[in-house]
Amino acid sequence: MRLVLNGRRVTLAAHPLKRLLDVLREDCALTGTKEGCGEGECGACTVLVDGTPVNSCLVPVAHVEGARVTTIEGLGGRHPLQRAFVAHGGAQCGICTPGMIMAAVALGRKPTLDEIRVGLAGNLCRCTGYAAIYRSVQKA
Ligand code: FES
Ligand code: FES
Repeated sequence: MRLVLNGRRVTLAAHPLKRLLDVLREDCALTGTKEGCGEGECGACTVLVDGTPVNSCLVPVAHVEGARVTTIEGLGGRHPLQRAFVAHGGAQCGICTPGMIMAAVALGRKPTLDEIRVGLAGNLCRCTGYAAIYRSVQKA
């Protein structure tokens, strides 16, 4: 199957029912996307599919045939959100961070605090207490 992964056309030989999360980590060596719960509850595995945040642990890879998939690696490491999370303490253990950042990317430019809270409501963090995450998104 074919898709556009982080801006590059790729062809994958994965089983169509394999989870997108596992295809990214195991077949594509993109281990930035994390597994937390594995059942759609935590958001750690969030990636963008055609610009929309999805839990990649719930998506069979066949569902992204022909789609644009963006992972944390696709931001290149110097995205304003990545810098802001570093500068403002938005990451502690870091397990939730890639998913948080991908969900925040989908909020677009200058989201309000309420928009940030709602947009990140599906992303759980057990370390930061969320204030530093919201502050990081606002600063970005
Ligand atoms: S690992 Fe996918 S939502 Fe938790
Ligand atoms: S920084 Fe540890 S879970 Fe969020």
